[in-house]
Amino acid sequence: MDRTSTILIVARDGTEWVDVVDHLADDYGYRVLVVQGSAEALATLVDVHVDLVVAEMEEPAESGAALLTELRVSHPDIIRILILDADAPGIGRAISQAAIYQFLRKPLDAEQLALVVKRGLETRELARRHRILSREFKVSDNAGLLDLHPSLPFRAESMRFEKLVYASEKMAELCDVARQAARTELPILIQGETGTGKELLARAVHYNSARKASPLQVQNCGGMSDELLQSELFGHKRGAFTGAISDRLGLFRAADGGTVFLDEISEVSPSFQVSLLRFLQEGELKPLGSDKSLICNVRIIAASNRRLSMLVAKGEFRQDLYFRLKGFEFEVPPLRDRVEDIPVLAEFFAAKHSEAIGRKILGISASLIEKLVHYDFPGNIRELENEIRRMVALAKDGEYLTTRNLSPALQAAAPRRTPRRRPGSCLRVRP
Ligand SMILES: Nc1ncnc2c1ncn2[C@@H]1O[C@H](COP(=O)(O)OP(=O)(O)OP(=O)(O)O)[C@@H](O)[C@H]1O
Ligand SMILES: [Mg+2]
Repeated sequence: MDRTSTILIVARDGTEWVDVVDHLADDYGYRVLVVQGSAEALATLVDVHVDLVVAEMEEPAESGAALLTELRVSHPDIIRILILDADAPGIGRAISQAAIYQFLRKPLDAEQLALVVKRGLETRELARRHRILSREFKVSDNAGLLDLHPSLPFRAESMRFEKLVYASEKMAELCDVARQAARTELPILIQGETGTGKELLARAVHYNSARKASPLQVQNCGGMSDELLQSELFGHKRGAFTGAISDRLGLFRAADGGTVFLDEISEVSPSFQVSLLRFLQEGELKPLGSDKSLICNVRIIAASNRRLSMLVAKGEFRQDLYFRLKGFEFEVPPLRDRVEDIPVLAEFFAAKHSEAIGRKILGISASLIEKLVHYDFPGNIRELENEIRRMVALAKDGEYLTTRNLSPALQAAAPRRTPRRRPGSCLRVRP
């Protein structure tokens, strides 16, 4: 495996797990996240790519493996391990419903658990390789039927950074630097056209940083009055303005120890820019209506689909704030500049949406891939995802997605003359 495996521990009481976490992280090198309860586990799974879940039995015993049962359907390739209390009664039904890989009884034995985790991950890797091989075998078997384009190299293996899926060199480089940037404390500025995955990248950075166990708070700064934005982020004292009927903590302090993602940062007013600059310089903020400054420790990740350097040149954005924000600066390239990602993304979205609605799609035809890689995608990945979701909804069980399922807008689109690079062809939807 080319990346560290991620283990999610769903504990009733995190303190009991300290030795186990240390052992898995320090001696085995896994990335370990600990959450409490199913709700927090499901929220984490939205942002984080997890390989294996270890969940403690919940109360009551009959529904104690409910989370794992849910994961069996929503995340079938995550390995599931259940931890039972020493005296828990037989739970045969729960175990078979959740199709768990293994259960262990308390007291926790760090070495035993680590061994089971290791074996579970090996099983997962074998299953993954088996899937790829059988897919390749089926594709070569059906090459005539599928009208495989001879000039398309067989397939590019997809890579992942949490929920970001990609195959292109450009994204691989960007994600490598983002992984390193995540481990620092510097602010990050992410720029790029709409729908390129800026928010997904911000979330991936948070969950790969030392702040991952603390909150990630998201604020869209577009279209908000100054007063509202100030109070959302920095909080306010009761009576600070009409309608402020009680004290408000504010997002920054709610995220203390964690990360605040400020979306559409280009839209904030000059006076808000001053407040933000002060915060970045001093680490202090003043709630509206208060004369006391408070210390708050958050990391800022900001995003914009307008280039801040241009706004600085036009005098619309403070240069000192721009420099503060870009501890690291990432430009997420538009999809048309990384067409190698189109086949793997199309396959990923086809699998995701066909699973969601229970449709059995066999795969994507090479001619459809060919059409997609020649299209400009002004709405970038969001537009590609919407297109595939629509095609999956229209397709029938047992069919391939083909050009005839394309939306009229894409059907009519004139192809770009030369795709910048030949994509890898990947034609099968994962079972
Ligand atoms: N590399 C990727 N792999 C999988 N899904 C992606 C990828 N990039 C983007 N997406 C999906 O595309 C959609 C848009 O992504 P996101 O919201 O992160 O974009 P954005 O750059 O923040 O867009 P905007 O500027 O409009 O806010 C989301 O549904 C996201 O899950
Ligand atoms: Mg966004």
